[in-house]
Amino acid sequence: MTSLPKMIVDCDPGHDDAIALVVAAHFADLVGVTTVAGNAPITATTRNARIVLDMIGSSVPLHQGAQRPLVAPPRHAAYVHGESGLDGADLPEPSRPADSQNAVDFIVETCRATEGIWLVPTGPLTNIALALRAAPDLADRIAGISLMGGGSFGNRSAAAEFNIWADPEAASIVFDYGKRLIMSGLDVTHRLQATPERIAKVRALPGRLAAVLADLFDFFSQVYVSRHDNMRGGAVHDPCAVLALTHPQLFTCKDHHVVVETHGELTMGMTLIDQRGLVERETPNCTVQWDVDAEAAFNVIVAAIAAFSK
Ligand code: RIB
Ligand code: CA
Repeated sequence: MTSLPKMIVDCDPGHDDAIALVVAAHFADLVGVTTVAGNAPITATTRNARIVLDMIGSSVPLHQGAQRPLVAPPRHAAYVHGESGLDGADLPEPSRPADSQNAVDFIVETCRATEGIWLVPTGPLTNIALALRAAPDLADRIAGISLMGGGSFGNRSAAAEFNIWADPEAASIVFDYGKRLIMSGLDVTHRLQATPERIAKVRALPGRLAAVLADLFDFFSQVYVSRHDNMRGGAVHDPCAVLALTHPQLFTCKDHHVVVETHGELTMGMTLIDQRGLVERETPNCTVQWDVDAEAAFNVIVAAIAAFSK
């Protein structure tokens, strides 16, 4: 019996972040949750994380983090997630406050106390970059970083995906950190869509959690289908960063050199993935997830929701 991967999820809930928390809470050893500004301001993302943890009855440590990027101005994504960051469902009031407003301290102290923890960021990489800078020994103590972000194309611009675009300087620090790095970018996450048939599986589950998550999926998917050509549902981005560790067999991946553009007038926030098939290619620093067994992956998501819906 292999042990569950230990992880800290650093998130900006966010509809897909919420699902990532549910999957991590069931299929991983969720050591803690930290929040970052991204989809919404830090007060909103932290409130949303509190609500999600309440709904699954989790008392894991929750620590609030950065309220703004390292250099870039704060920019959010209300056009996708709504002003609250988690629009589209009748959510309960949160029952507990965050344990602190020092996510970076929590990450550093926890990873120093216990070796082999994965950092799983599903929002802008501000907290992760600050932790790596605050504790140079962190890189050798963690199991690695499995992030949602980047891709061979963008969604915030033609070149840049939101999590990277929101804090390119932080992302550059993370991609340059030199140890185990898994990237679930848009190339793989757009292949995991919350189609109506898949959302129906969630809605068929008993209890309030499933009903709320089905409503969130409906809201998120309606936004995606209305804004994209040829999508049948919301791209379930963030759970891919968790599933990469809990269910790696569902993914197709390849190692590449990936670097973040932090100066490009047109390409700021781009993840430049070296796919060249020639000797000059750069030494790989990142495992890039390119494809996923979407039906199986969504069934894993349904199973996680069901586990908290009894
Ligand atoms: O581009 C998708 C990413 O941006 C996801 O993490 C989503 O939650 C938003 O943060
Ligand atoms: Ca996110």
